[in-house]
Amino acid sequence: MRIVRFYFLFIALVLTGFISGGQAAGQQDGKDSVSELLVKLEREFANSFPKDASPNGTVREFDLVASEGNWGIMPPYQTKVWAYNGQIPGPIFRIKLGESIKVRFINRLPQSTTVHWHGIRVPNAMDGVPGVTQEPIPSGGSFSYQFTPKDAGTFWFHPHVNSAEQIERGLHGVLIVEDPDEPQYSRDLVWVLDDWLLNKTGEIHDKFVTRHDLAHDGRWGNFPTINGTFQLPVSVKAGERIRLRIINVANGRVFVPQFQGLSPIVIAVDGMLTGTPFPLKRFLLAPGNRIDLDITIPRSSENTTFNIIDTYTRKPFPLAYFHIQSGNTSGTPKFKPPQAHHIPQWEEAINAPVLHEYMLDAKEDRSSRITWTIDGNAWPNGKTHELPLGQFSRLRFTNNSYRLHPMHLHGQFFKLIARNGKSVDENYWRDTVLIGPEQSVDIGLVPLDTGKWANHCHILEHAEAGMMSMIWVK
Ligand code: C2O
Ligand code: CU
Repeated sequence: MRIVRFYFLFIALVLTGFISGGQAAGQQDGKDSVSELLVKLEREFANSFPKDASPNGTVREFDLVASEGNWGIMPPYQTKVWAYNGQIPGPIFRIKLGESIKVRFINRLPQSTTVHWHGIRVPNAMDGVPGVTQEPIPSGGSFSYQFTPKDAGTFWFHPHVNSAEQIERGLHGVLIVEDPDEPQYSRDLVWVLDDWLLNKTGEIHDKFVTRHDLAHDGRWGNFPTINGTFQLPVSVKAGERIRLRIINVANGRVFVPQFQGLSPIVIAVDGMLTGTPFPLKRFLLAPGNRIDLDITIPRSSENTTFNIIDTYTRKPFPLAYFHIQSGNTSGTPKFKPPQAHHIPQWEEAINAPVLHEYMLDAKEDRSSRITWTIDGNAWPNGKTHELPLGQFSRLRFTNNSYRLHPMHLHGQFFKLIARNGKSVDENYWRDTVLIGPEQSVDIGLVPLDTGKWANHCHILEHAEAGMMSMIWVK
């Protein structure tokens, strides 16, 4: 009894001491513990990914031409498209980590454009954001993009001018940065997931950013393709171990690919290797997102066909088929799936202060035009928030609407900290995160790249209608 009473007395003393110590001292303590926490989070972050590129002197040069063209997306019809280097999907540029890339770009479109390198930490001037990092490249104009990627992985590029139309018409390409230290798969495949809105003779519906698109989750099509092909057939060998890089380039559609009869392992998200590879269950691949899968085709299997279906909507539909040609077998390379050297756990990030809460919503003006807003403003209106270079920041996106918003930050990788205020444990980086209706999402990041970087919804119609702002890392 005496002990208990003593204990209470002790608490009472501490409490009165704290209270009589005054407001100022209390706040000071609070500040100290916050800055201690931030320092701790920054220390945990160290060595996650490099601050600087390490160019090895090799410069790989590519030509990239954007122009009108024709492509057989829905045979026997030809579809009038806008394409990079005349092909759907666009070219795949493959380089090795340490190499620099130089892309000589020519604009043969009937309108101005730029090229943005999605997910790649480029020097700010190479980021392709019109009016912010460069002037739009006029029709007939050209521009040279040159940079040395700092990270290996699966990235993509696309226009950042009138994107809702330009990307929809077919402008997108892939940049793969290979890390020679990563294991060799039997095959390395790239799947570009897209979603076209075509009429019966294969023409692209040519009203863009419609009121319907704006009132919903952007433009959803009626003709989903992988690498420009409806229900893509892929012939595989039993025993083969495949690295499959999947990119969602659709304007609005979310994909949840399911591999029936197979057990894919997710080894990378948004380009970067995961801290712990994990089995693919239900991964929401929003516009902009990528995943890399490690898939072994079973050797003894009654199946000779494996269906890959999309399961995001209530009506699942086939995306692709793997089929094993009889007698076609291959050895299975044996290695542990590659994983990130270091990903901070950031367990205590949930206690860090929120530097800024972005409010995502729509508004309708007098002429009943819909704009999508961040903090009530449609781009180019709105505030640019500063993020301190090399320091931990926690940001929150609060979706006050009933629509989806895959928010994408240029030039940064971030980690999910919480959904609706509850801690989440994702052991990987992202550059795009899907925020559902009336959901809030907290992210943590330590920016290593200075400059003005776009922060926008990757549903391109929403972005076009204003859902974009800038962060300024300095
Ligand atoms: Cu793919 Cu501004 O982004
Ligand atoms: Cu949106």
